[in-house]
Amino acid sequence: MINELKSDFNKIYNKVGERAFFSPGRVNLIGEHTDYNGGNVFPCALDMGTFAIVSKREDELVRAYSNNFKELGVIEFSLENLINIKEDDWGNYPKGVIKMFVDEGHKIDNGFDILFHGNIPNGSGLSSSASIELATAIVLKNLFSLDVDMVSMVKLAQKAENKFIGVNCGIMDQFAIGMGKANCAILLDTKNIIHKYVPLDLKDSVIVIANTNKRRGLADSKYNERRYECDTALGELKEVVKINELCDLCAEDFEKHSGVIKNDVNRRRAKHAIYENERTKKAVVELEKGDLKAFGKLMNASHVSLRDDYEVTGIELDTLVELAWMEEGVIGSRMTGAGFGGCTVSIVNEKNVESFMKNVGAGYKDAIGYDATFYIGRVGDGTREI
Ligand code: GLA
Repeated sequence: MINELKSDFNKIYNKVGERAFFSPGRVNLIGEHTDYNGGNVFPCALDMGTFAIVSKREDELVRAYSNNFKELGVIEFSLENLINIKEDDWGNYPKGVIKMFVDEGHKIDNGFDILFHGNIPNGSGLSSSASIELATAIVLKNLFSLDVDMVSMVKLAQKAENKFIGVNCGIMDQFAIGMGKANCAILLDTKNIIHKYVPLDLKDSVIVIANTNKRRGLADSKYNERRYECDTALGELKEVVKINELCDLCAEDFEKHSGVIKNDVNRRRAKHAIYENERTKKAVVELEKGDLKAFGKLMNASHVSLRDDYEVTGIELDTLVELAWMEEGVIGSRMTGAGFGGCTVSIVNEKNVESFMKNVGAGYKDAIGYDATFYIGRVGDGTREI
């Protein structure tokens, strides 16, 4: 793989690609739409992701090429002019990260040539954008010997997404990708940024990811609207309880005070965030006890809440999940990521994986009119030089 990519690099830039990096994608097992409400999330890094081949330049130019967007050719910009322009398309992701590093005071005095190659489907909700952001971050750290640790890089990547790209995302994706660990999921308390690795012992089951193949862009989705609805509910709750974020409340206290939220929609958004946070903590306890069945039930409940209270699923995700629930050997199934399209995550007994893909795939095609795509989710390490 790396040799092939180095040869691609050579063809594009007519020089040798000196160093190689890898940054994974992520799948979230449970804890959805909690990360901007001060709650817990439980994602893991995948073995799919973004490769980057790099070579330093003498001048201040950055030239970037992606095998995934060959039609866009080489995107070129100067370190002197790090602004978001539409024509630079995907190139705004690496550019945004460079800008955040520079603004933070990191010394990046030369440009570089870079080739990206991603094997996560774009727009599938497995965080191809956070993956390329962290890939850029690790390139900068290693090329310019910067004194910056992974958690700081995670925060800079999130900042690039918020301030440069304009998507108000939480920290989950960047954290899972930067800090991932093979065969472990990460329980992250997003309020205090405290994390714990939990070995993913799924016994004779595996993670199956199903892609709706419905294209979805976070920026133009209803993501920012959900944040606003949560903030509105939080503002009203603050009039009666002392909290800083929605997930500071437990479900019991929420029930006591929820009447203060005037609008029913906002009340359901807050309810989802608060109950989902509790489900996530419970799910991790069950997994640690080895009770996969209980873990799966919480995954299912998460989907129901995202469907009915948070309303971020839609016909494609609901179809995949509801078909999955009917299959033999399915321990749990839910949408993963922001929603509005993207992927589902299911825990499926190994011996049922084939029939699962066949039956859910056929049912989906019948109902939606085009195919879903299935992958086995293998849990890998975080962003690194290779
Ligand atoms: C997207 C965002 C994350 C998180 C999820 C929903 O993936 O980037 O920060 O909010 O949606 O859980």
